[in-house]
Amino acid sequence: MNDTLEAFAAECHKILKLDSGASGIEAVREKLEPLLLDKKFIATYLGEDNDSARKIIYEDAELGFCILAHVFKGYNEAPPHDHGPSWAIYGQAAGKTEMTEYDEIGSHSDGQIGLAKPVKSYTLEPGMAVAYQVGDLHSPKRDGETRLIRMEGQNLEGIKRDKYQRA
Ligand SMILES: [Fe+2]
Repeated sequence: MNDTLEAFAAECHKILKLDSGASGIEAVREKLEPLLLDKKFIATYLGEDNDSARKIIYEDAELGFCILAHVFKGYNEAPPHDHGPSWAIYGQAAGKTEMTEYDEIGSHSDGQIGLAKPVKSYTLEPGMAVAYQVGDLHSPKRDGETRLIRMEGQNLEGIKRDKYQRA
């Protein structure tokens, strides 16, 4: 782990230990933004030699939050989703992500597909990070390669999440 990541992870740990709610997550988002423009940090974790779609670069042993590096190739549009029991922060390091946020229409029961109405769209450019609280519905779309640092409140590998479709 390089010094910048170690210092950032320690800072996030300090913030989230005191406040794991919306304002703590927002404080972490603010700390992530300058890192997205840190050439040495990005070369280390999102450099040309990295083409991994998902790599956990830090997992906090006590609090469980994760820092992930992603290299996404080609066009893709994800369906609306939340992150189950977790919050998520998307940090753009290279390329552009068009993000849409949604409100659920009505509610859905277990195993049913929820209906999501788009309410807001914006573009994430390098140096920008956005936080989604638990349950916030969003969908990223890209036209070409993107490189992101993302954070999640816990490692979501293997955790079942509800499905939604765009209304
Ligand atoms: Fe997401």
